[in-house]
Amino acid sequence: MQRKILVTSALPYANGEIHLGHLLEYIQSDIWVRFQKMMGNECHYVCADDAHGTPIMLKADELDITPEELIKGVSERHQMDFKDFAINFSQYHSTHSDENREISANIFNKLNDAGYIKTRTISQAFDPEKQMFLPDRFIKGDCPKCGATDQYGDNCEVCGATYSPTELKNAKSAISGAIPITKDSEHYFFDLPQFEAQLKEWTHSGHLQDEISNKLAEWFEQGLQQWDISRDAPYFGFQIPGVENKYFYVWLDAPIGYMASFKKLCNEQSIDFDEYFNKDSKTELYHFIGKDIVYFHALFWPAILMGAEYRTPNAIFAHGFLTVNGQKMSKSRGTFIQARTYLENLNPECLRYYYAYKLSSKIDDIDLNLEDFKQRVNSDLVGKVVNIASRSTGFIVKKFNKTLSAYVIKQDLYNEFVAQGDNISKLYEARNYNQAMREIMKLADKANQYIDLHKPWQMAKEVNKQTQVHDVTSLAINLFRVLMTYLKPVLPVMAEYVEVFLNIDTLNWHDLKHPLTNHKINKFKPLMSRIEGTQINQVIESSKQNIQIIEKKNPGTEYNSN
Ligand code: MSP
Ligand code: ZN
Repeated sequence: MQRKILVTSALPYANGEIHLGHLLEYIQSDIWVRFQKMMGNECHYVCADDAHGTPIMLKADELDITPEELIKGVSERHQMDFKDFAINFSQYHSTHSDENREISANIFNKLNDAGYIKTRTISQAFDPEKQMFLPDRFIKGDCPKCGATDQYGDNCEVCGATYSPTELKNAKSAISGAIPITKDSEHYFFDLPQFEAQLKEWTHSGHLQDEISNKLAEWFEQGLQQWDISRDAPYFGFQIPGVENKYFYVWLDAPIGYMASFKKLCNEQSIDFDEYFNKDSKTELYHFIGKDIVYFHALFWPAILMGAEYRTPNAIFAHGFLTVNGQKMSKSRGTFIQARTYLENLNPECLRYYYAYKLSSKIDDIDLNLEDFKQRVNSDLVGKVVNIASRSTGFIVKKFNKTLSAYVIKQDLYNEFVAQGDNISKLYEARNYNQAMREIMKLADKANQYIDLHKPWQMAKEVNKQTQVHDVTSLAINLFRVLMTYLKPVLPVMAEYVEVFLNIDTLNWHDLKHPLTNHKINKFKPLMSRIEGTQINQVIESSKQNIQIIEKKNPGTEYNSN
């Protein structure tokens, strides 16, 4: 039966460029979506820029442009990066959109009418010069525990202590340098504790990975707190309906941005929005996210959907964090690599493959070791997969009029390849791409062993062995077709080349039952070349330089972290 599926990836902040850490997530989701489509399911994949919040407002200030101008430019660059990495969104929108304004206001009103919104006055640090309340990240001072200078208002990067901004010694506003004062204002809260029973039930009903359920159990034990969903002016966001000078906190309208982006798609393509979001929807909804934003997606978000009488997600798929060469991405080491810097030097599908080779359904961190990346891609994709085609096609083209033989010489070998399809599709479905890649590479080894055994290049020299050459190389091409079908969710661009090369409509699971026989193919273009060490060095060098340029252009990029 055809499933109806809506997939989202977390919305990247609109004040920075896409980097290889982000791409772990977008590549993971894109592979899953492409796989679902190959299985014949209806699968929509939406995302958007997360455009609101203090850091974006201040960044625009710094650059002396409006927030609207800032987010427009960033959105264009984000979308170019995604396109060049073959991330195939059905819709890429912005949280600063009419759709989102409308749905956010609606949801707020529903929650309010149902008694889930409370107000209360709180005191916060206030910058008297800039005339604005200061989020913890925008207060700096000396750590109350170890005395380290220049630490953020919420935690010390030197000794790891966490504290509240009022405990910080010699506190200063990171924006103006002024000494913050304490000021009262009324805030709006989402009454999360009212959802405790429902959430406990939800988080234990198979919607979450085990590691995440365990984390949630800890949070329940600590007790759920009301969630502050308002911010005072000046703020770049949506004004709270009917309330002067107060705005929704960015994290309220960000997940609603998933719905808003989908709404736009529905309007453009006559898809029934309600069928996907009403309370008893039979469609499936999945959110791919990083492990750092689980609290928002596994607690606040389902509670908001419950409170506003929408359906809840079928699952939250969290992944771990990317490290490069075993360490946190680092600007000074040149391992804080932007998508664009990678693209200027390397083939995007190499990264897609390497991530697939590493990704599982677990939330462990994932290391991009650049040396291993080079070797893995060269050995698996160039050395194994592409090699099957490059050592067979020449014969078919030159000796056999580009036409594959009329039968499959070793049907059991071909069948063995096709029989793996079931297992491989289960691994994709379960997001165990790492195991899927291993199964595929085992088959690639088999295909190469088969060619090695028969040595078509030697047989070709013997007049009476021409038929065998034809049969062996034709089977090799058929095995290559099976492998490229299995790899298509990961390597969509290469798969497209292969479709042209094999002179077929599309590579797909279903057609594999029938091998290509008596079939004319096209000339073979080299599909992928080896990664050279110099390309990797260039990425590192450019990444170091990028950072210097950014810091010269706009000092104080610490505002970057939201
Ligand atoms: N704007 C929020 C998400 C709102 S979703 C309603 C946000 N943005 S982000 O730009 O910081 O991150 C976007 C996604 O990329 C998140 O899922 C985050 O976990 C992921 N990653 C960002 N850096 C990452 C790594 N270094 N490694 C893996 N994933 C990372 O959070
Ligand atoms: Zn400290």
